[in-house]
Amino acid sequence: MRAARFLASLLLAMAVPAMALADAAMVAGDAVAQSLTGSAGDPLRGRAIIIDRQKGFCLLCHSGPFNEEPLQGNLAPSLEGAGSRWNEGQLRLRLMDNKRVNAESIMPAYHRIEGLNRVGPVWRNRPILNAAEIEDVLAFLMGLKTENAP
Ligand code: HEC
Repeated sequence: MRAARFLASLLLAMAVPAMALADAAMVAGDAVAQSLTGSAGDPLRGRAIIIDRQKGFCLLCHSGPFNEEPLQGNLAPSLEGAGSRWNEGQLRLRLMDNKRVNAESIMPAYHRIEGLNRVGPVWRNRPILNAAEIEDVLAFLMGLKTENAP
């Protein structure tokens, strides 16, 4: 009985479709080169999303140039200099679904709706950040250039 149940759950797990991004985005290599909205995002809105604990909540894990925020994370690299380390397409894919570049990553897939487990009803079929929000966050990150970034 136990074995049958185990087998059933195994088959279910295998039936989960391969990761799909919320939009039919073109992934090439480790990047999504094209804007998800067809235009550039707003960096100020992006900054607000990063700080917002109901939205991106990026500071749970990351730190960065957010002096007004006393609590910042240390589970992930500082966002400072992210725009120097990666190009726009690379950052877009990392925001959408970082597990595509690092399967072990703890960073949530902000723009993926399939292949997830135990998604709360209000979140079903909705990515954490929509296309416009991804572009806004990206616009802010692209501005984080550091002279001495590796
Ligand atoms: C639960 C923790 C967590 C959250 C929340 C999170 N990240 Fe990450 N992020 C990571 C970790 C860990 C890495 C390191 C690389 C990896 O795991 O692949 C990373 C990597 C990154 C990178 C590449 C780092 C570099 O080398 O410059 C960027 C950019 C990034 N995250 C942006 C964001 C943004 C923007 C948000 C919010 C919308 C966010 N992350 C939310 C954990 C997190």
